[in-house]
Amino acid sequence: MDKSKYSWSLINNNISDNDKESLSNFILNSDRFTNGPKVRKFEEIWSRWLGVKHSVMVNSGAMANYLSIAVVKEYKGFEGEIIVPPIGWVSDISSVLNHGFIPVFSDVELGTLSLNYESVKDAVNDRTMGIVIVHCLGFDAISEKLIRFIKERNLIFIEDCSECHGAKHNNDKLGTFGDMSCFSFYYGHHMTTIEGGMVCTNDDSIYELLKLYRSHGLTREATDSLKKKFSQEYQTLNPLFTFAVPGYNIRSTEINAVLGLEQIKRLDSNIIQRRRNLTLWLDNLSPAKYFTDFKIKGNSSFALPLILLEKSETVFKNVQNVLQNEGVEFRVGTAGGGNQVLQPYLQNYKYKVVGKLNNANHIHHYGLYIGNHPELKEKQIINLCSKLNEC
Ligand SMILES: Cc1ncc(COP(=O)(O)O)c(C=O)c1O
Repeated sequence: MDKSKYSWSLINNNISDNDKESLSNFILNSDRFTNGPKVRKFEEIWSRWLGVKHSVMVNSGAMANYLSIAVVKEYKGFEGEIIVPPIGWVSDISSVLNHGFIPVFSDVELGTLSLNYESVKDAVNDRTMGIVIVHCLGFDAISEKLIRFIKERNLIFIEDCSECHGAKHNNDKLGTFGDMSCFSFYYGHHMTTIEGGMVCTNDDSIYELLKLYRSHGLTREATDSLKKKFSQEYQTLNPLFTFAVPGYNIRSTEINAVLGLEQIKRLDSNIIQRRRNLTLWLDNLSPAKYFTDFKIKGNSSFALPLILLEKSETVFKNVQNVLQNEGVEFRVGTAGGGNQVLQPYLQNYKYKVVGKLNNANHIHHYGLYIGNHPELKEKQIINLCSKLNEC
């Protein structure tokens, strides 16, 4: 087996021997391998765990993003603007571009690394159709003011929860506040299905659209009444080959769902440990040198953030040297590699930036994250913090 070259990697082996055994048993004893009873079961258990009515499993978090924006297009038409964060992930933006919307960037706040009420309010205009909030690195970006504002403006609200499985705002899990929420189960996340994602909603008609879009636009998974509507309206079509919307094929295999059903059993205990590690990390980092004033209430830490207070290339270089010497894997720019507006993929498309992206740029140039996993030892965290405090 490959041995990691890091003593502290972004993620430790996330697939246990028990998981592998469940996968082997499933493969040896099953005949159905795609989008079937195991996917349905995982969707059901996931909905219950999260506290939503419906979940639709797809083959990645990125495709969960695409599915959610396809729904915005169905409700709001073929053009307009969608507010997105500069810190997040490429698919939060590419999904907007590829559905013909204009992404509008506004700055994030340092305490959550995410958009907030002020930044969203500044970016909204009559052409705004929806808002994508990414709860970066597991921090809660919800506020009552923000929710009220989005409702008043009748905007479609998407929460990208790919980095915040199990995080809460007050008593409710993140992912229950938006019209839709997206999750990733990629290898390095709080739990994994190897590749995989989920879109969740409390809205019955959004749920129908999500199922259609996930599977070619076919009506096979639709409710009986929807199937009847289409067969009456399109009498020359075979009901098994009625394509209601211009959909994708982004279905999950049963194998990924089998792993999801195993992994969700240890998700809550994993999150408790991640939270402990983050608290220890922030308590031991020097607040004179690093930004430590994060909104930790309700977090489900995805990774441990390290952001300089000072704009110093020398200190940032020293920090990276310490991490390299200690064998600690890290990602500069924090979530998604930093400020998305600086990326080449955007440069041939129309996009807007509202105000200055000062915080996003600061995070891009002087921020990074390192792995947070349940197996980290208290001593390991404290020792690294004291070395970093000397940079
Ligand atoms: C916020 C966010 N959204 C979407 C994704 C994409 O998920 P996936 O890698 O499963 O496609 C990621 C991936 O890490 C992410 O962090």
